[in-house]
Amino acid sequence: MILILQNIKELVQVDLKNRLWVAGKSMAEVQTVKNAFLIIQDKLIKDFGAMEDLYKSEYELDDMIIEIDCSGKMVFPSYCDSHTHLVYAATREQEFVDRIKGLTYEEIAKKGGGILNSAKRLQEMPEDDLYTHAMERLEEIMWLGTGAVEIKSGYGLTTESELKMLKVIQRMKQNSPLLIKSTFLAHAFPLEYRSKRADYVNLLINEMLPLIASEELADFVDVFCDRGFFTMEETERILMAGIKYEMKGKVHANELANSGGVQVGVKYNALSADHLEYIEDEEIAALMDSETMPTVLPGAAFFLNLKLAPVRRMIAAGLPVAMASDYNPGSSPSGNMNFIQSLGCLKYGMTPEETLHATTINSAYAMGISESYGSIAKGKVANLFITKEISSYAVIPYSFGSNLIETVILNGEIQ
Ligand code: NIG
Ligand code: FE
Repeated sequence: MILILQNIKELVQVDLKNRLWVAGKSMAEVQTVKNAFLIIQDKLIKDFGAMEDLYKSEYELDDMIIEIDCSGKMVFPSYCDSHTHLVYAATREQEFVDRIKGLTYEEIAKKGGGILNSAKRLQEMPEDDLYTHAMERLEEIMWLGTGAVEIKSGYGLTTESELKMLKVIQRMKQNSPLLIKSTFLAHAFPLEYRSKRADYVNLLINEMLPLIASEELADFVDVFCDRGFFTMEETERILMAGIKYEMKGKVHANELANSGGVQVGVKYNALSADHLEYIEDEEIAALMDSETMPTVLPGAAFFLNLKLAPVRRMIAAGLPVAMASDYNPGSSPSGNMNFIQSLGCLKYGMTPEETLHATTINSAYAMGISESYGSIAKGKVANLFITKEISSYAVIPYSFGSNLIETVILNGEIQ
C-alpha cells in the first residue's frame, strides 16, 4: 500500500543529510518544505518534496494508493520520548500535596515515600494489570504525537519485580505500534539495604543483570547517580556490568546535586545523561566531544520546582540538547511532548526550532534510533503526525496544554 500526503502546508524537520543529531547553533535551524507532498511505501518514507515535483517521484503504480489532502495542515516527524517510567502501579498525588505544603522531594524519599512508595505498589500489582494501565498511557502519548518511547524499570527493586516490569515492557513492544526501547534502571536502595549498599549493588550486578540479559529484557542500563541515591563508584560498577552484556549505559545525573554522574556517564560512553539541573562548565566540557547526549527533562523540573538546566549555555558551547518527558508518577506525571516543547521555549529560552530538534532527532539519538527515526528523511520509518489547520509551526509550543494533532501515522499506518 502507498500513502500519498498532498498539499501539506509545511512539511517540517526534513533532513537531506540524515544527521544523527543536531548541535549548537544548528539547533536554531529547521528545514521545511512548503506546499509539499510525502509518499509512504512499505512503512518507510519513500519520497517527499514540493507539490510541483510530485509527478517526478517514482512508486509502484499497481499498488493500492491512498491519497490524503493536507491543505492548511502541517506534517511533523513523531516525537521520540527518550526517557519515561510509564509502567507504574499508582499515582502519587499525596506527595504532590505534601510538597505544596512544604516538604521537599528528597525529604519524602528519605521517609520511604517517592520511588519506594511506587515500588511497594508495583510489587503488589499483578503483571496483567500493570500491562493494561501502561498500554493506556502509551495510547495517550500516541495521540499526543509520540511515535517512539524508552521505558525504564526501576520501580521493582527486587529481582522478581524488576523482571515483572521488564516483561510488561516486552509485551508492550510486541503489541504497540510505537517503537519501544527498554531500560533496566538502578533507581533506589530498598530500605532493608540502606546499611548494606554494596550487597544491593551486588544483587543488581550478579543476579538481576544476568537474568535480564539472558532473557533479552533490556536494551540499556541506567543508574540514578545523585545525592541520596547511587554514588559515582556504584554507578561505575553497574554501567561496567551492563557493558559486559552489551547494554549501553544511560544516567540520571545531577538532578539534586552536582553528583559527578555526568562524568561517569561520559567515561562509559553512556548514550545519554539526563536531568542536568546541577551542571557547571566542567560537566559541559565533559559532554563536549563525547558520545553522550545531554538530555533535559523539563517536566520534572517544572513539577518539582527545581532549578533549571542551563540549556542556553549548553547550546552556546556547541552541545546538542535532547528533551524528554520523564513520564512517571513522582516527578513528571505527563508524557505530553507538546507541553515539553512549550516548557523548553518558556522556561529554558529555547526557540521553537531548538525544541523541535530536542524532541525529535536528538532524543532519537538518546535512545539509539536516530538512523531510522527523528526526522523526515528518505528511508526512515514513516512515523509522523498531521496537525489540524495551523498558522505556523511555532503555534505548537505556543498553544501549551492543547493538542493540535489530528492524524497519527506510525510505521506508515494511519492510527
Ligand atoms: O527521572 N530522578 C529519578 N527518577 C525519576 C523519578 C522517580 C520518582 O519519583 O518516582 C525521574 O525524575
Ligand atoms: Fe527518570
